Amino acid sequence: MKEIKMVDLHGQYLQHRDEINNAIQEVLDSTAFIKGPPVKKFEQELAAYAGAAHCIACGNGTDALQVAMMALELQPGDEVITTPFTFIATIEVIKLLKLKPVLVDIDPDSFNIDPSKLKAALSEKTKAIVPVHLFGQTVEMEKIIAFAKEHQLFIVEDNAQAIGADYTFSDGNVKKAGTLGTIGCTSFFPSKNLGAYGDGGAMFTNDDHLAARMRSIVNHGMSSERYYYEHVGVNSRLDTMQAAILRVKLQHLDEYNRARQDVAAEYDKAFRNITALKIPYRNPDSTHIFHQYTLQVESGGRDELKQYLNEHQIPAMIYYPVPLHVQNAYQDLGYKVGDFPVTEEMCTKVLSLPVHTEMETDQLEHIISSIEKYFN
Ligand SMILES: Cc1ncc(COP(=O)(O)O)c(C=O)c1O
Repeated sequence: MKEIKMVDLHGQYLQHRDEINNAIQEVLDSTAFIKGPPVKKFEQELAAYAGAAHCIACGNGTDALQVAMMALELQPGDEVITTPFTFIATIEVIKLLKLKPVLVDIDPDSFNIDPSKLKAALSEKTKAIVPVHLFGQTVEMEKIIAFAKEHQLFIVEDNAQAIGADYTFSDGNVKKAGTLGTIGCTSFFPSKNLGAYGDGGAMFTNDDHLAARMRSIVNHGMSSERYYYEHVGVNSRLDTMQAAILRVKLQHLDEYNRARQDVAAEYDKAFRNITALKIPYRNPDSTHIFHQYTLQVESGGRDELKQYLNEHQIPAMIYYPVPLHVQNAYQDLGYKVGDFPVTEEMCTKVLSLPVHTEMETDQLEHIISSIEKYFN
């Protein structure tokens, strides 16, 4: 059996090796390493895929969030509501811009921000909400959108983990995750469902004015006239090589997501009847593209199960072991243990299994039979 990895980047590369090598070679021959033609083409193709008017590529998903908040002209002291159960980048950029993160606990089934708890977090300084579509399925966006409308808040979706997921509104309208708010942000970190071979990210919006502002901000705030600056900006461009690779991979994104869903379906079937395990919940309004397949291990046995799996050559990871409000770097927010009990509980229960596009039958069988044996 081939070694099992959380993500098999090499196996995925081999599937499209010639196409990718040719794309890279073309960039090398062109030497247009920054802002070369593949960047614009990729932006257009990804915007069309997502059904967004604009896609602006940038250096990584963290910058995408930062640039989105800069474009919205949020001011120091403005409050931004988000979740304590996410990757650190979500809250990091809020702090970096001297905005105030206000955290709201999650739903224990979906791991996503709990819309019923938003109202208690609202103040007259609240300007935006950052729903994070964690592990591959969307937040209950209709409720978030209604709340944002009522209180005139911007929505910046953190869609680093759910690119390609579909959200269905109650009127039947279907839209892609990342195009449901004011601005959607995504990451092309290599292990993401649409992963580059280095860092990369992008913002989506249907607002022409915000799109123009973000396009300027990622390029030092430059106006259409070279060396004239309209905004304070950053240097955050997707490099041409990454864009060329992502153009190839975008054609396979739906296939990648389906392969992950197939693995998840096999896991579900096997683990549904193990009482100590809770299989991932499905938000009925969203497809799940399984950036992670995350079990909840009931009754305190998570760490022992993880150790057992590792001893059986099965990687398993804890996303995330420590809630954001407990992290040392964020103690000045004034939160304490006990403030977000659902998040805190999930940090003791969650365990993510390998789920990727190149999972081989014997690998899947080994993972499933090892877990079945453990609980028998
Ligand atoms: C939820 C979430 N937000 C933001 C990011 C930041 O993306 P990047 O690593 O591309 O900066 C990531 C991924 O790393 C993420 O998972």
